[in-house]
Amino acid sequence: MSGFTELASVDGRIGPTAEAVIGLKDDGLYRGDGAFEVIRLYDRRPFALDDHIARLERSSASLRLEFDRMALRAEIAALLEEAGPIDGQLRLIVTRGGRRIAATESVPVHAETTTVASVTYQTTIVLNGVKSLSYGANMLATRMAKEQGADEALLVRPDRIVLEPPTSSIFWVAEGTLRTTAIAEGVLASITRDRLLKAVPGIEEGAWTLDQVKSGSEAFLASTTREVQAVASIDGVALPEAPGPRTREAQEAFTALRDRELAAAN
Ligand SMILES: Cc1ncc(COP(=O)(O)O)c(C=O)c1O
Repeated sequence: MSGFTELASVDGRIGPTAEAVIGLKDDGLYRGDGAFEVIRLYDRRPFALDDHIARLERSSASLRLEFDRMALRAEIAALLEEAGPIDGQLRLIVTRGGRRIAATESVPVHAETTTVASVTYQTTIVLNGVKSLSYGANMLATRMAKEQGADEALLVRPDRIVLEPPTSSIFWVAEGTLRTTAIAEGVLASITRDRLLKAVPGIEEGAWTLDQVKSGSEAFLASTTREVQAVASIDGVALPEAPGPRTREAQEAFTALRDRELAAAN
């Protein structure tokens, strides 16, 4: 089921998301002080839930924010029970004000291919690797990319090293090798990226410049909601193939691994 009423659990109280409330005086809202996750639901089955909860714990620990993991787990189970057999996504939020939020959502529609425009971006060192509620800069970068006529931003450090788009990882093929930016350069430890590194042989991790990425033969974005999405152009320069052969290989390998994991977990 893909058309459904979005439901939210706030500290275990479940109701339609449109009617859910939290107290206004929460630094999650006032200062973006909190952490979040987005998890795909395939016919009500969450994919990689343990990894997402582990990352939420790491993000929260970095923020010095405590939350009751067992309570959140129980609230997720109750919410999914209430939601029924939906294909969608599950958002988890923990706020400085102490709220635990779990919400079902429709998955955003992504086209088969996308276009990206580079946006210069300096990582906030203390938030590196933290999936915090302070995503204003990421959202602004996407708007700036759209102003340039692209669908999505590609965050690039002032030293020209390519990081990632605001809500996904990037992979590309150059010199015959499939590459992605190393976590140590300041990108999020994406769970889709992790699965691709396991499922597709020969991916090289490192630091490459925008010019090196632009000269590639193909590229794709990877994330929970996109899975694997081909990139058609970077800064208006068309890539030779979209989707190219390594992109198709990654799509197939990810789908197979995902289906095996879902079958084993449920
Ligand atoms: C900055 C950033 N990079 C990468 C990703 C992709 O991560 P995942 O594969 O865990 O969804 C996200 C997800 O929203 C993100 O916010």
